[in-house]
Amino acid sequence: MIRRTLALIVTLPLAGGCVLVPVPATMGFPVDHHSFARPESVRVTHVSLDLSLDFDEQRVVGEAGLVLDRSDADAPLVLDTHGLAVLSVHGADGTPREFRFGEDRGRLGTPLEIELAPGDESVSVRYRTSPDAVALQWLAPEQTAGERAPFLFTQGQSILTRSWIPLQDSPGIRVTYDARIRAPEGTVVVMSAEQSSRDDDGAFRFRMTRPIPPYLIALGCGDLASRDISERSRVWADPTLVEAAADELADTEAMILSAESLFGDYRWGRYDLLILPPAFPFGGMENPCLTFCTPTILAGDKSLVSLVAHELAHSWSGNLVTNATWSDFWLNEGFTVYFEARIMEEVFGEERANLEKALAFDDVVREMAELEPWAQKLHVDLEGKHPDDGFSAVPYEKGALLLRRIEELVGRDSFDAFLRRWFDEHAFESVTTAEFRRFLEDELLASAPQARAALDLELWLEAPGLPDDAPRAESSGIANVEDELARLRAGTDPSELETGEWVTQQWLHFLEACADEVDRERMGRLDEVFAFTETNNSEVLCVWLRLAVKHGYEAADGRLEGFVERVGRAKFLRPLYKELARTDPDRARALYARMRPRYHAVARAAVEEVLR
Ligand code: BES
Ligand code: ZN
Repeated sequence: MIRRTLALIVTLPLAGGCVLVPVPATMGFPVDHHSFARPESVRVTHVSLDLSLDFDEQRVVGEAGLVLDRSDADAPLVLDTHGLAVLSVHGADGTPREFRFGEDRGRLGTPLEIELAPGDESVSVRYRTSPDAVALQWLAPEQTAGERAPFLFTQGQSILTRSWIPLQDSPGIRVTYDARIRAPEGTVVVMSAEQSSRDDDGAFRFRMTRPIPPYLIALGCGDLASRDISERSRVWADPTLVEAAADELADTEAMILSAESLFGDYRWGRYDLLILPPAFPFGGMENPCLTFCTPTILAGDKSLVSLVAHELAHSWSGNLVTNATWSDFWLNEGFTVYFEARIMEEVFGEERANLEKALAFDDVVREMAELEPWAQKLHVDLEGKHPDDGFSAVPYEKGALLLRRIEELVGRDSFDAFLRRWFDEHAFESVTTAEFRRFLEDELLASAPQARAALDLELWLEAPGLPDDAPRAESSGIANVEDELARLRAGTDPSELETGEWVTQQWLHFLEACADEVDRERMGRLDEVFAFTETNNSEVLCVWLRLAVKHGYEAADGRLEGFVERVGRAKFLRPLYKELARTDPDRARALYARMRPRYHAVARAAVEEVLR
């Protein structure tokens, strides 16, 4: 991103001549509809946290020191907040500063305006969070594997950080941070940063010296143990899980090495993983130095570790080079899915990568059919919407397909060199879709006229739907499943199918393909032969349970209730509740009412949308 452009003067043609119209200087900050900050006048560059975690009151309490870069000496500091109670604000000299909240804007939160004195190169805000802060989930000991201590985790993306830290919560406004965190005895605190030694009073200290977007400030606290999996990588998890987790994630270092060989050095020091309790609403979250992970990827056979490749890839696409606004979200996720498949290909072979690509292709086609046209666009207009309203397979898969299409047109070597330049030249910057287009044109297409002629970028980026030239992955494993499905349809008993060598992704394709074809009886027979209801693979179980609901296969009811009670991952809950709502709305609502207290705000929002 261009850091500081001058105020522009544009000329508008008017009857009788031209008029000069000053356009407000934004100094290279693109307009972010989801933040109240005005970084072009006063910008936060560093956040210094001194916080206590109060599990009894379910509040984070303390102080945020904010270092400022002031371009306009008369302008106030404007912060994003959501549900925060501000106790006082002090200037650099320690004396109080006046502050006022603006209008409450619902899910966007409330602007906080602070009057600055001339010498204020920093301010400090004393505050506490609300018990229903959307970034925080407080779990009872019973919701953890060892049931010994309560657990707290934060989730910043997309615009939730403002509910636990008062700051300028826009991905275009990068900050460094440090933190001192006090937590109950017997718990361990980890953060998305470098960990320093503990204070004499037991407080945990952290330091992030590279500028990151605020949504990547993250914390976890609970009964945690760790196991090293390589020199720069360890797994943090509940002590009862940590061995199994370390085994499952043993290939992490191979993934890091592969990623580095593709797109340049890993620039964040350590790459650790935190296994969260199952209530974690996502599969993974790419918090720097410390990927957050659902325990539902611990299948016992490494079959779901592409999630680690994905979160690791964000260390380049997303964390190093960040979407400047949420309209550019595809730059984070599309690049990451592309990169994830490249890592999977190198570490686990081409067929595994192709299997996963083929499943994802089918997913995006299925999902796109249900989305409104605006949500089918890569470069999405989110004005008047919450960033998470644009969340779907589109930024992920359509984004990755665009990159694969470009690769196909220019060849892998030249595309790899281009991507490496993209990461190097925009390292620690936030970028827009327009900047990507310019860079692509200048650095790649200008010298590849045939590719340029074949690629309709406007269609890919600005139009709904999936362009016809989207590349499809060929997978022999999928072809094999199709053959067996044909035999099943022709009357072969499930026990006669040749499934002995099938991997998880083949089973997933099998079940998706069966979704509309089976009935209750056939489900019973499939279950007798393949024991789907008893599977420990969360992805397979989720699809199976959806089919069970759809076809009234009651033998899986107990498993279904146990699953939605324990697991809070929105990707699983949403389709299950959706199917429940379709078949038995009262049951869906009653079950959700019972489970709701166990779910994170993000998962609640996802489920409530399908229950409406
Ligand atoms: N950064 C996302 C999670 C996210 C996106 C959180 C938008 C909040 C708003 C993360 O990298 C992700 O994509 N996770 C996926 C897993 C992945 C393998 C597709 C998930 O959680 O399912
Ligand atoms: Zn992602």
